[in-house]
Amino acid sequence: GSKGNGQEKSRYSKAEKSRNASKGNTLTTRQGHPVTDNQNIRTLGSSGPATMENYHFIEKISHFDRERVPERVVHARGAGAHGVFVSYGTVGKDPVEKFTRAKVFKKGKETPTFVRFSTVGHPSGSPETLRDPRGFAVKFYTEDGNWDLVGNNLKIFFIRDAMKFPDLIHSQKPDPVTNIQSAERIFDFFSGSPEATHMVTFLYSPWGIPANYRQMQGSGVNTYKWVNAEGEAMLVKYHWEPLQGIRNLTQKEAQEVQGKNFNHATQDLYEAIERGDFPEWELNVQLISDDDHPELDFDPLDDTKLWPKEQFPWYPVGKMTLNRNPVDYFNEVELAAFGTGVLVDGLDFSDDKMLQGRTFSYSDTQRYRIGANYLQLPINAPKVHVATNQRGGQMAYDTDFAEGQNIHVNYEPSILGGLSEAPKPAKEYTPRYEANLVRQPIERANPFKQAGETFRNFEDWEREELINNLGNDLAKCDPRIQERMLDHFTQADENYGRLVRERIEQVTKQMKKMDKGMDGPMGNVTGEQGVEDA
Ligand code: HEM
Repeated sequence: GSKGNGQEKSRYSKAEKSRNASKGNTLTTRQGHPVTDNQNIRTLGSSGPATMENYHFIEKISHFDRERVPERVVHARGAGAHGVFVSYGTVGKDPVEKFTRAKVFKKGKETPTFVRFSTVGHPSGSPETLRDPRGFAVKFYTEDGNWDLVGNNLKIFFIRDAMKFPDLIHSQKPDPVTNIQSAERIFDFFSGSPEATHMVTFLYSPWGIPANYRQMQGSGVNTYKWVNAEGEAMLVKYHWEPLQGIRNLTQKEAQEVQGKNFNHATQDLYEAIERGDFPEWELNVQLISDDDHPELDFDPLDDTKLWPKEQFPWYPVGKMTLNRNPVDYFNEVELAAFGTGVLVDGLDFSDDKMLQGRTFSYSDTQRYRIGANYLQLPINAPKVHVATNQRGGQMAYDTDFAEGQNIHVNYEPSILGGLSEAPKPAKEYTPRYEANLVRQPIERANPFKQAGETFRNFEDWEREELINNLGNDLAKCDPRIQERMLDHFTQADENYGRLVRERIEQVTKQMKKMDKGMDGPMGNVTGEQGVEDA
């Protein structure tokens, strides 16, 4: 390779450590047959027709024909790396045990992790410069089994009810007729979903194009619970802070990068780890009591809202270092399966309606995308004792017996030597509920106030980008959609609405002058060329 022998050697030794590395370097089939000719199919004479008993060829080509699994329905494009999480053991001045009994947070505890970063709406081969939230999914292989923290770079989300997720994503994905992403479809949805205004404000600012994966934050977005040994719970939000600092791109910078390299974020992560420049993030938590918080003008379980940092401080609880690249992208990154249902003792769900819906969706899609036995794959399997009575299913790979178990008993209860239940924790967390079963939105919807605060908190260049980017895309939309969006921005902040209106007018005029109508040379989310700033 172009990088010299040292690099090649280290890569080779990594492959040797991999599970399937075998002695010798002879090419074989998957049946273990040595391959003596990998160039020629078996034919009648050197130019004759091929035979059907050409087992080596058929095995090779038919495996190739099946090399892909369906890409993720969202977050299709990603990059991953292995690492380690080390816990500080404290929350401010208190020992962490005051709030959670999860062993992963015990002082000094080291837990192996695997992280997958991603873009959201665009397909698996799309440029990594596009305006989109970024996924930040972490699998902790803890001593109590796996914990997945499936987050994004931004700290809030577009919607607050899982019912709306398929609609949100359909509006962001390409038009079902033209197969082209369309600003008008996107803003059609947003203009009917006022709760999205806050997230749109982040997305159309430079925060919608992180410079790379190493220099971005991560956030669990949804609210979870921490449970301590007494069975008491607190609401918790998680945030990853990059020790490399945060860097975002302007639309123009992104287009310059994209013109040269559409894999820049994957490459940046891979190369940093290869040269030993290991990226690090500190994990912070915000903790509040588990109740409705009537003193707040928003619902604490509404994921379109920030828990303001000044009011609810961030407490660092540990640090993650990414220090090893995958040896096989497909096996480790493509087949990785994260889900919000994957919690360990001491961590729990909140009543956040998005979280509840997500928790069904992830493992459901993974059973379809990868298969019923996806948890047997090395990247997804916990690194601890696993013993179930689950048997069968496509590609069942390993029978997870316990040592000394009666292998005839794949059911429970049994007195014949099968598996038995683990002891219950001394104090279980058993919240009490009393409510009518309804379909209702939350009270305290308050869709615009924090959007206005976020607008005012931006630096000048961030606000300018936001206005230009929004105006460029909105100029392509039906005037009724423009008006509805402008109404939302105005309710967030009068200047916000006024400035976006001015930008739309300016771009529309420019478009007319260029006589390009709705196909004008602009666009942001859609990845088209932007109009130069006036
Ligand atoms: C991936 C559903 C909201 C972060 C996915 C996948 C589905 C999904 C089906 C593909 C999983 C796979 O194929 O393995 C949903 C639903 C949501 C929702 C139904 C709302 C009700 C969110 C939110 C966040 C988020 C709010 C941010 C915290 C992610 C990430 C991935 C992902 C990071 C990629 C995981 C990976 O790298 O494999 N989501 N999602 N999602 N989602 Fe969500």
